[in-house]
Order: sequence, then C-alpha cells, then structure tokens
Amino acid sequence: MGFNRFILPMLLHLVIALMLSSASTLTPPTFPIAMPGCKDHCGNVSIPFPFGITEDCYLNKYFFINCTNSSTSVPQTVLQNAVDVTEISLEGQVHLMQDIASDCYDKNGSLLDNISPWTRLSKRFTFSSTANKFIVVGCDALALVKGFGQNRSYATGCIPSCDYKEDVIDGSCSGIGCCQTDIPPGAWNINVSLTSLNNHTKVWDFNPCSYAFVVEEKAFNFSASNLTNLSNDLSLPVVVDWTIEEGSCEVAQRNTTSYACSGKNSHCYEPFKGLGYRCSCDQGYEGNPYLPDGCQDINECQDPTLHNCTKNSVCHNTLGNYTCPCLKGYHGDGRGGDGCSPDQINWSMIVSGVGIGTAILLFCCFYLCLELRKRRENRLKEEFFRKNGGLMLQQRLAQEGRNTNVARIFTLEELRKATNNFEETRIIGRGGYGTVFKGILVDHNSCTVAIKRSREVNENQVDQFINEVIMLSQVNSRNVVKLLGCCLETEVPLLVYEFIDNGTLSEHLSSTTKSQHLSWNIRLRIASEIAGVLSYLHSVASPPIIHRDIKSANILLDQNYTAKVTDFGISKLAPLDENQVSTMVQGTFGYLDPEYMLTGLLTEKSDVYSFGVVLIELLTSEKALSLDRVEEEKFLANYFISSLKSGHLVQVLDRNIMFDVSIELLKEVAMIAKSCLSIKGDDRPSMKNIARELEVLEIRAKQSPIQVSKIDFTDTEASLLGMQSTKAYIDSGDSSCIHTESHSIMEHMMVPIAGGR
Ligand SMILES: *[C@@H]1O[C@H](CO)[C@@H](O)[C@H](O)[C@H]1NC(C)=O
Ligand SMILES: *[C@@H]1O[C@H](CO)[C@@H](O)[C@H](O)[C@H]1NC(C)=O
Ligand SMILES: *[C@@H]1O[C@H](CO)[C@@H](O)[C@H](O)[C@H]1NC(C)=O
Ligand SMILES: *[C@@H]1O[C@H](CO)[C@@H](O)[C@H](O)[C@H]1NC(C)=O
Ligand SMILES: *[C@@H]1O[C@H](CO)[C@@H](O)[C@H](O)[C@H]1NC(C)=O
Ligand SMILES: *[C@@H]1O[C@H](CO)[C@@H](O)[C@H](O)[C@H]1NC(C)=O
Ligand SMILES: *[C@@H]1O[C@H](CO)[C@@H](O)[C@H](O)[C@H]1NC(C)=O
Ligand SMILES: *[C@@H]1O[C@H](CO)[C@@H](O)[C@H](O)[C@H]1NC(C)=O
Ligand SMILES: *[C@@H]1O[C@H](CO)[C@@H](O)[C@H](O)[C@H]1NC(C)=O
Ligand SMILES: *[C@@H]1O[C@H](CO)[C@@H](O)[C@H](O)[C@H]1NC(C)=O
Ligand SMILES: *[C@@H]1O[C@H](CO)[C@@H](O)[C@H](O)[C@H]1NC(C)=O
Ligand SMILES: *[C@@H]1O[C@H](CO)[C@@H](O)[C@H](O)[C@H]1NC(C)=O
Repeated sequence: MGFNRFILPMLLHLVIALMLSSASTLTPPTFPIAMPGCKDHCGNVSIPFPFGITEDCYLNKYFFINCTNSSTSVPQTVLQNAVDVTEISLEGQVHLMQDIASDCYDKNGSLLDNISPWTRLSKRFTFSSTANKFIVVGCDALALVKGFGQNRSYATGCIPSCDYKEDVIDGSCSGIGCCQTDIPPGAWNINVSLTSLNNHTKVWDFNPCSYAFVVEEKAFNFSASNLTNLSNDLSLPVVVDWTIEEGSCEVAQRNTTSYACSGKNSHCYEPFKGLGYRCSCDQGYEGNPYLPDGCQDINECQDPTLHNCTKNSVCHNTLGNYTCPCLKGYHGDGRGGDGCSPDQINWSMIVSGVGIGTAILLFCCFYLCLELRKRRENRLKEEFFRKNGGLMLQQRLAQEGRNTNVARIFTLEELRKATNNFEETRIIGRGGYGTVFKGILVDHNSCTVAIKRSREVNENQVDQFINEVIMLSQVNSRNVVKLLGCCLETEVPLLVYEFIDNGTLSEHLSSTTKSQHLSWNIRLRIASEIAGVLSYLHSVASPPIIHRDIKSANILLDQNYTAKVTDFGISKLAPLDENQVSTMVQGTFGYLDPEYMLTGLLTEKSDVYSFGVVLIELLTSEKALSLDRVEEEKFLANYFISSLKSGHLVQVLDRNIMFDVSIELLKEVAMIAKSCLSIKGDDRPSMKNIARELEVLEIRAKQSPIQVSKIDFTDTEASLLGMQSTKAYIDSGDSSCIHTESHSIMEHMMVPIAGGR
C-alpha cells in the first residue's frame, strides 16, 4: 500500500481559479513551521513540517508535497497523481480537492456520460467523518459510496428524487433533489457509484445529470440551480485527517528515533482510538510540535484574551504559564477569583506583635525580679549564716578535721530540696520550738532526716550555740537521736536529726493498744537506756550536758523500742561558774524540778527529777500532768507519792505490766522513782547510780524475776557493771545517715568537747 497505488481520477486540476479563491488568507505565523532552510509555503498554502516540498524537509515520503512552481502552483500531495491541496493544518487536517461523480443522459434517456471516481489514501490519511458529507444531487439518482474503514468494508448511499423543479427547496438537502449521508469514521477509501432509475427521462428538462461526491460540509450549500449548473469536471474540497503513524503513542515512544513528539514541550496524543498518533504543544506553548524546538512559550500578557489578570494586578509571563502579582498596596490573587484588594492594616499582626513584645518584657522583668530576689535572699542567707556563727562553726569543723562524726553544715537549698520546699505534707510534728519536717536528703544516700527549728540565737550566745551543736553532734550513742548537722542560713537555725519513725514514748503509753505492746521488760530496758544516756551526758561529757526537758514526749522509740532521747533544743552546758547559773526557768510542767523552779539553779539533779516522772509514767501509763485527776493529784509525781505512802501502789500501776513481773520488783522500781522525786536535789541519787540500779534490775528480771527482792545502791557493786552499762548506750548509730567508723569505746567516752569559754 502507499502512494504508489494511489491512483487518481483522470480529471486534471483545472480549477486553479477556484482553488485560489478558496485558499484562505494567511496570517503569517509568528513561529517557524518548517525545518530550518526549508520552504514553508507553496503558492498561498503554508507547508508545515512534517510536510515538506524538498528532500529532507518532510518527515517521510507520505508527507511530500509536489510544488512545481512555488509562486503560482497549487501544491499537490501524492507522487505521480496530483491531488490539489488547499490547506494544511498542524491540528491534523489537510484540505484536498476531489473530483465529483456524474451520470448524464440525453433527452431519449440514453446514457451520455458516467464518471465514478474513487480515491484511496494511505491509512494514515482518513476522510473526516465529522467534517464531510456524502451528497447526491439529482431528481432521478441512486448513489452508493463504499470502501474500507480501517480493515472493514462499508457501504452507504441515498436516493434523491423530485417531480418538479418547484418542489426543490434551496438550502435543504433532505431528499428532494438532494440527499446526504454521513460517512463512517476511519474511511481511507472511497468508491462512489452513481446510476438512475429512469434514465432521467421524466426530469430531463431541468435535470439531465446526477452528481455524487464526498465534500466538506460547509463548502457546499445546495440550491435548486445546482440541479443544472454543476459540471462533471468539478472538484470539491474534502477534509482529510492525518496522523504520523498508525501505532499508538505508547508504541511510538518506544522507538526514540522515529518518535515525532520528542521536541521540547511537545506531547503525543491519539485523536481517534486506534487511528495513529499526533503531537501537540503543551499548554501554554504554541508552535510546531513536530520540530525539535517548535513549541514556544505563549506570552499571554500580550493578548488580553489569553490572561485573566484582574484590575490592580500586573501580568507576568512565565515559561508555559503566567502570574498576576498584585500591585504594591494590594493583596490577594490577581488571577481570577476575588482579584486584588487594597491592603488593610493587619490588626491581628500588630496585636500579636505587641503581645509578644509585652510577653518578652514581662519575662525579662520577671527574670530580673527573680534574680534580684535571689541576690537579696543570698545576701540575707549570708547575713544569717554569719549571725548564727557559721564562720565560727566552719573554723571549728576545720579544726576537728579527722573526725567525720561532727556536725555538717547544710545549705538552705539542700533542706528545701529534702523537704520539697517545706511542704505541708512533710510536717511530722509541731513542738514547742516550731514545726518538725521530715526530709529526704537527696545527695546523701537518700537518708531520711527530721528537720526542726532550733531556739533563736542572740549575739552573745553564738559561741555557746556552736559549741552545743558540735558537742551534741559528737554524742555518739544509740540512745540519743543523732544530730547530723545544722543550717545557719535562716534567721532561726535549723537542726537536722536522724529520723526515728516509731513515735514517742508518750504516744505509746497514752494509747491503750500501743501500751499493751510495752511489756515490763521493754519498759525497764527503756528506763535503763534513758538513765544510761543521761548518766553519760552528766558524767562523761565535760562540761556536763543537762538535758533540761526530759519527758516521755522527748523520748522517741524505734521499731525495736530502743529509746532515743531527743530535743536537746534547750539543753545547756552546765555552767562551770555557779554565778552564771540563773537562767530563765524552762522545762515542762509535770516534769519540772520544784527546786529548780524555786531557785532557778540548774543542776544535773533537775534531770533526775524529770527522769523520776518518766519512770512513774512507765509504771502507771498515766500522764505527767492530768486535769482529769483531783486537785492535789494533778501532778503525777504527787499522785504517785501519795499512793505509795498510803500503800495503794498496786492500784496506780498499769494493769498491762502487773503480771509480767513480781510486785516486789515493781516496788523496787517505784522506790527508785520515789528517790528521784525527792524535793531536795541533793537527796536524789545521781543518774549514774540510777543507771546501774536499773541495769541490775533488768538483768535480774530477765534471769528470774520473782527472786528479785532487794535494792542495792552501793557503788562497788554497780562499778562492776559500769563498763557494760556504758557499752549499752555507747554504740555507734545504725542509721545510714551517720558516718559509722570503728571507734573504740574509749574514744567514744572521751567526747572532745572544746571548752569554748
Ligand atoms: C494567492 O497568491 C497569489 C500570488 O501568489 C496572490 O496574488 C493572491 O492574492 C493570493 N490569494 C489569496 C486569497 O491570498
Ligand atoms: C512559475 O510561474 C511564474 C509566473 O507564472 C513564471 O514566471 C515562472 O517561470 C514559473 N517558474 C517555473 C519554474 O515554471
Ligand atoms: C510534480 O508534478 C509535476 C507536474 O505536475 C511532475 O512533472 C513532476 O514529476 C512531479 N514531481 C514529483 C517529484 O513527482
Ligand atoms: C431520439 O429519438 C428520436 C425518436 O424517437 C430520434 O428521432 C432521435 O434521433 C433520437 N435522438 C438521439 C440523439 O438519438
Ligand atoms: C436507460 O439507458 C440504458 C443504457 O443506455 C438502456 O439500456 C435502458 O434501456 C434505458 N432505459 C430506459 C427506460 O430508457
Ligand atoms: C487490520 O488488518 C491488519 C492485517 O490484516 C492488522 O494487522 C491490523 O491490526 C488490523 N487493524 C484493525 C484496526 O483491525
Ligand atoms: C444556503 O443557501 C441558502 C439560500 O441560497 C441560504 O439561505 C443559506 O443561508 C445558505 N446557507 C449557508 C450555510 O451558506
Ligand atoms: C469501485 O467501483 C468500480 C465500479 O463500481 C469498480 O470497478 C472498482 O473495482 C471499485 N473499486 C474499489 C476499490 O472498490
Ligand atoms: C450551486 O448553486 C449556487 C447558486 O447558483 C452557486 O452559487 C454555487 O456555486 C453552486 N454550487 C456549486 C458547487 O457550483
Ligand atoms: C525506529 O525507527 C527507525 C526510523 O523509522 C527505523 O529505521 C528503526 O528500525 C526503528 N526501530 C525499531 C526498533 O522499530
Ligand atoms: C478567565 O476566567 C474566566 C472565568 O473565571 C474563564 O471562564 C476563562 O476561561 C478564563 N480565561 C483565561 C484565559 O484563563
Ligand atoms: C498555571 O498556573 C496556575 C496557577 O499558578 C495553575 O493553576 C495552572 O495549572 C498552571 N498551568 C500550567 C499549564 O502549568
């Protein structure tokens, strides 16, 4: 197949005049349509690539145009048989001139002339089924058109007729003198056959010939005169669709050398399913998509119909597109939509700006205030530290050096951390000197401590206070609540103690359930332990330490009911000089030594009196001072003494212990208590003797409680037990907060108390 077999009807191209008139006025394109160096027109017809006139100017032989005289001639497709071309469009259409079929008779009805042309195109050229019509003109005609639409044959036709010329209507080709029909799509072959039913005998007067042709629909407007005035050598334009190849885009793209749409900004498309492909410029580009650089950017801005830039915007051309930025002072979308609107003051921006500014300012102020406060606080801390003798303590601690058991200086920050900034939930008690907090030292084994306010320190008491702190922290007994250190950065110094978690002796005695757990042996041991510790403080330390506030509420118990004496908050070093003694009388009613109360003279014997009251508490589980008892018996001491005198001892003893031990032994203890409560201090035994006494009783009670019958105060007997008793309470603390080192007993005994005055 191909042009070799493309045989044209014999009619020559004698219609130059017509052709020239139908050639549309060319507006010269703004872009090249032919290959460089190639003629892009023939006569009035432009020849875009892939069509071409000379060799190398067309894509392949199917697109050769024979242009014999480019100034005058009508270009012709086809190699040997010229078909006149009137228009070639890049959109894929070629307008050709095609001869018409005719069938003429004489008056007698004999056939004069029958011309039935047929046209076959290459498969890449097909008659347009939308732009063309098959039209038959005549009052006695029968016409068929048949051929191939792709691989299938087709046939169609129509039979126009009329009896009188007057019946024919101009412009109406609907069966009277003219009929028309569509041709199928994809037809690349046309074979028209035309004949008549009655040899035109009945209509010969006004219609001797019939005509049939496929024609561009808009190029033929039927009128009655055409029944006579058409000539059989007429050729009429027909529209032919063309594609590059028969294959699809997908197939074509596989062969890059033959692919026609490989130019920049060019793409492939298939105009009709299965009828080959064409090329087209991308949107925003125009030109010849078949040339390598054929597609060029459209400058939409030069043509107001091409762009949509609204008022107050400028058109800005981009490659393949355009933008419409708003003019200065306007905002929005200049490309359609709401267009550009004048700028408004953006209050929200201003507000947010001011807001952020204010926030930053506030933050700075806040930070500054914080910093100032911190500095003031630090200054205050330093001041307090100095006032409370911090420097002196530091110096003294440096001297102690080797001894790790001495007081530590805590910073306020540490204690804040330990108590979660002195949180309400950390309060474990409220004593006479303020609140007691439970704290957990974060960077110190996480050990638990009790933190309480000390008494206020005035200027001339500073070194005394520091001495006490050092001394108390060095008291290394398991029956003393260990003073771990202090914080001097507050107005009133804070003291840090080891934490004992089983409550006070007073709590245990006053609770009916808890007191049941305190068996006599435990009570006796507690008494012994307290006595031991007081004896130690009175005798071993120099100068002696007087607790001054011995009471059951100041005796803590741990889980094993080991007694821990606490609250040396008001304890004083016993003055060496008698003259200095008269201090303000302090202590707790019910426990207060009546002699001390009267004279204000403080001696170790005041502690003995208080201890006596505690001993009675242990025996009776009664309160030291109770308003429930009758007037003269309000004070437990009085109550107990009078009971003892009247021989009603058994009635006042706690029933819980009555059966633990023989009544004799209890009586012995009661006698000790009585001796402690002597009005005159000199009549009271020393703590040392009491301790020994209790120790003996303790041992006897354990061995055979019933045999105990005799009290012996002799020093000789007790001295044998002295070391043991000392050992009992001089025992390194077992709390994790205490630095435990293996000191010898002697070391413990010789608590280094610096004189200080
Ligand atoms: C066709 O071309 C000829 C010369 O080549 C010119 O004289 C004529 O005006 C053109 N016709 C049209 C319709 O452009
Ligand atoms: C083309 O036509 C012009 C005008 O008729 C004529 O002068 C010229 O000789 C022709 N050229 C050819 C090659 O036939
Ligand atoms: C072009 O047409 C002319 C006559 O119309 C013919 O003589 C010539 O051979 C043709 N050229 C080609 C290459 O077919
Ligand atoms: C037509 O027929 C008539 C008579 O029937 C005859 O005289 C005449 O010659 C014929 N004309 C032609 C052209 O044959
Ligand atoms: C029509 O013309 C054909 C061929 O000339 C002839 O054979 C036929 O008889 C004619 N028919 C009539 C009705 O004249
Ligand atoms: C037409 O026939 C040829 C061979 O006979 C075949 O290769 C081609 O696919 C057919 N085309 C269509 C559209 O059926
Ligand atoms: C066809 O011709 C008729 C009358 O001659 C006219 O009214 C009509 O407008 C024409 N139509 C076209 C499409 O030219
Ligand atoms: C066209 O029609 C004529 C006569 O009707 C016939 O001889 C010819 O073979 C046909 N050609 C095709 C391609 O159908
Ligand atoms: C049909 O007749 C009209 C009116 O006479 C004429 O203008 C027109 O050119 C004719 N059509 C053809 C194709 O000759
Ligand atoms: C690609 O096309 C070229 C030119 O049309 C042809 O010579 C070549 O054989 C084709 N290659 C393939 C793989 O089809
Ligand atoms: C411009 O906008 C209108 C409506 O939004 C739309 O119909 C038209 O196609 C647009 N024209 C261009 C060139 O974008
Ligand atoms: C052109 O730009 C508009 C908006 O920026 C966008 O919507 C559109 O798709 C673009 N057109 C092309 C062909 O890129």
